[in-house]
Amino acid sequence: MASGGFRSCTAALLSFVLLLQVSAGAAAGGDCHFPAVFNFGDSNSDTGGLSAAFGAAPPPNGMTFFGMPVGRYCDGRLVIDFITENLGVPYLSAYLNSIGSNFSQGANFATAGSSISRQNSSLFLSGFSPISLDVQSWEFEQFINRSQFVYNNKGGIYRELLPKAEYFSEALYTFDIGQNDITAGYFANMSTEQVVAYIPDLMDRFVSIIQSVHWLGGRYFWIHGTGPIGCLPYAIIHRPDIGAQKDSIGCSVTYNKVAQLFNQRLKETVARLRKTYPDAGFTYVDVYTAKYKLISQAKKLGFDDPLLTCCGHDAGPYNYDPKVGCGGKVLVNGKWVVLGKSCDDPSRRVSWDGVHFTEAANKFVFDQIVRGALSDPPVSLRQACRSKAQ
Ligand SMILES: *[C@@H]1O[C@H](CO)[C@@H](O)[C@H](O)[C@H]1NC(C)=O
Ligand SMILES: *[C@@H]1O[C@H](CO)[C@@H](O)[C@H](O)[C@H]1NC(C)=O
Ligand SMILES: *[C@@H]1O[C@H](CO)[C@@H](O)[C@H](O)[C@H]1NC(C)=O
Ligand SMILES: *[C@@H]1O[C@H](CO)[C@@H](O)[C@H](O)[C@H]1NC(C)=O
Repeated sequence: MASGGFRSCTAALLSFVLLLQVSAGAAAGGDCHFPAVFNFGDSNSDTGGLSAAFGAAPPPNGMTFFGMPVGRYCDGRLVIDFITENLGVPYLSAYLNSIGSNFSQGANFATAGSSISRQNSSLFLSGFSPISLDVQSWEFEQFINRSQFVYNNKGGIYRELLPKAEYFSEALYTFDIGQNDITAGYFANMSTEQVVAYIPDLMDRFVSIIQSVHWLGGRYFWIHGTGPIGCLPYAIIHRPDIGAQKDSIGCSVTYNKVAQLFNQRLKETVARLRKTYPDAGFTYVDVYTAKYKLISQAKKLGFDDPLLTCCGHDAGPYNYDPKVGCGGKVLVNGKWVVLGKSCDDPSRRVSWDGVHFTEAANKFVFDQIVRGALSDPPVSLRQACRSKAQ
């Protein structure tokens, strides 16, 4: 009896020691304490970049949480807002927003309509942002140089508004981009073969941006895959031929296959980066699965028809009119009349405006990804500094 007790005590001690070793290694252990977040991406994580330069996102954007438009294409918070909340970092100011911004704990370089690759068209022709991922990385380089110069030489209030030098290596660098690279090809009337053919080029460009951020001091990377684009009304309507073949929920099979192919390549690319930079942590996050789960189980999860746009203009099966978007107005007898209105209860909708998710949907997605269930390696958000090569 006694020796048995001793043995199990030794076993317990041994597993405790093993546990300690694991914590000191990679998989488990304490939180990382990221003091700042620097984000790169498109409208999925734009907190005011496009609005600052090209005209504000109109009401009713922002109605649910902020009570006014705040540069987000959503009724409330985005996944990046839930990420910063979880890390105890304030909501990110957009780098391009010169008014009232506070960059002491990070900056957001994302703009709506951004893509990895540069677009050959202008925002006014195609709707895609000129602030592609390479431009965002130049902005980031200037941000470091200029913020450190001002922090050290101007001092005063700027010390409260700009990051400390060490934050650049301690921060979490988040990426959510690629959706517009896929739609840009399709919207320019490319075939699926043509779109698929440029995915390797997107990966090369993505790698060179990560290299540059790493060169500038970034060490912890949290990289989202793209979502099921084929479940978004704007994509289905823009290319009816690509939208024609639908799965059981009504999502375009072709768009979604290409999105998944992009994600597969991105996941492999991130795994290679992890090997190339053993001093850095890289987490790939399968946002596709989180979003598809929400869309395919919407009713069960307390949501209405997941393909029905909340803020839009009554047109067709999705309540999405490409000519009159969320907050869109038309001139009637010399008076502007808002046609793109919100539905009564955005908290029951998945799609906010036919392109972007509602705050309720974003919260669901965040809850799916925060603990690491959809991450490679399977680390939680707060432990993302541990995603290093073994
Ligand atoms: C832009 O044009 C160049 C040269 O014609 C081409 O190689 C590139 O693929 C185009 N990019 C896009 C996003 O269409
Ligand atoms: C930032 O500073 C470094 C070193 O002083 C310099 O090499 C680099 O060109 C600067 N970058 C920008 C965008 O000003
Ligand atoms: C900027 O944000 C930091 C916290 O992130 C806060 O301590 C500081 O007071 C803020 N400064 C201003 C002027 O808002
Ligand atoms: C794509 O094709 C459609 C239908 O033929 C046409 O109406 C549209 O203008 C084309 N778009 C572009 C960007 O070439």
